[in-house]
Amino acid sequence: MSSETNDSVTIHRGLKGIYFERSGVSSIDGRAGDLHYRGYSIHDLAGQSSFEETSYLLLHGELPSKAGLKRFDQELKAARRLPESLYDIIRAIRGAHPMEVLRTAVSALSAFEENSNDTSRDAVLKKGINLTSQMPVIVAAHYRLQAGQDPIVPSSKLGHAANFLYMLKGEPPSEGAAALMDTDMILHAEHGSNASSFTARVVAGTGANLHAAMTAAIGALSGPAHGGAAEDVMKMAREINDPAKAADYVKTKRKNREPIMGFGHRVYRAEDPRARHLRAGVKRLSAEMGEPRWIEILQAVETAMARYTRLGVNVNVDFYAGVIYYLHGLPEDLFVPIFAIGRVPGWTAQILEQFEQNILIRPLTLYNGPPPRDYIPLGKRRKPEF
Ligand SMILES: CC(C)(COP(=O)(O)OP(=O)(O)OC[C@H]1O[C@@H](n2cnc3c(N)ncnc32)[C@H](O)[C@@H]1OP(=O)(O)O)[C@@H](O)C(=O)NCCC(=O)NCCS
Repeated sequence: MSSETNDSVTIHRGLKGIYFERSGVSSIDGRAGDLHYRGYSIHDLAGQSSFEETSYLLLHGELPSKAGLKRFDQELKAARRLPESLYDIIRAIRGAHPMEVLRTAVSALSAFEENSNDTSRDAVLKKGINLTSQMPVIVAAHYRLQAGQDPIVPSSKLGHAANFLYMLKGEPPSEGAAALMDTDMILHAEHGSNASSFTARVVAGTGANLHAAMTAAIGALSGPAHGGAAEDVMKMAREINDPAKAADYVKTKRKNREPIMGFGHRVYRAEDPRARHLRAGVKRLSAEMGEPRWIEILQAVETAMARYTRLGVNVNVDFYAGVIYYLHGLPEDLFVPIFAIGRVPGWTAQILEQFEQNILIRPLTLYNGPPPRDYIPLGKRRKPEF
């Protein structure tokens, strides 16, 4: 049950349907299945923009001029480096999940920022740009160190998405692979008051710094109900393994009242508009690589789930994303970190907005524990009866 009424108090569990603030960063129409970043349709941005340009738009509020984009691109490229001792931290915890490493490394980076507690607009913007560039370096360095390889020095010749793939593999990606990763990052860059962005705003609302808010956001994103779903979709596809078995898989899951990963959304009742671009990407990549099995399995799951669309349960952004990463040869535990890398501009834009109109975010819980009672000193307490 999403809301309960107790005398005069209505409880909105999970804050479903609650507006807590105004925001000019992005807008979602859940019924129509529409998403806009600062007024621009996600379809236009996915089809025509770049991750760099979309990041500029989210951070500055407007699309850049040619010269403005060039300057921003240079700023991003100049920030593609980590303090030497951060590699020691990554090395020390290289056995952990990449999201744990990312969360720890972002938290540690705060100590290397001269003005880590400066929450003025310029300082937060600069630190947000730094993190946009540093997070791919962290994820790629961990990937390499975990495999017993040396981290790859970032290339200042490549764009953001291409450089990330280069730092993972050690060779520049094909144009198609880089373009698909770029689109994926645009699609993940911002999404209203999702759990991780809300978390970031709660932390910023206390006046804590950007790195504290980002660290908390990364923690929130790691859960399977949020960013972790792409990893689980790939596990599901492997488990099904044969398109002919998809219908039975869905039937069993629903009988056990378990969710099908990559379906459903707190806000969308129509299909998540981001899924369209990733579906097209998987189709293209599967055809190019001559590996149709995964798209066939996913489409069979989509067919088996068609009866739930009347309940507003449709494909979400994570359903097709995982197979794209898989076909790029990336391991499943990198799927959430890739989401995180794409989301940094959105988190930064919302943290900036929070600082600009700051208020402590502090809701209430309705107490349902024991009534007031006397404290009994330890020596006089009877044994509890369980
Ligand atoms: C994202 C999610 C947590 C949203 O949860 P929510 O806001 O509580 O979902 P809703 O209120 O829209 O659910 C409405 C109904 O659809 C069902 N439903 C929601 N997602 C479902 C899914 N993935 N598979 C099957 N049924 C689902 C719910 O069980 C609920 O049915 P009920 O009323 O009989 O209990 C949920 O859809 C989910 O767990 N999805 C799978 C994980 C995932 O893909 N996450 C990535 C999100 S981008």
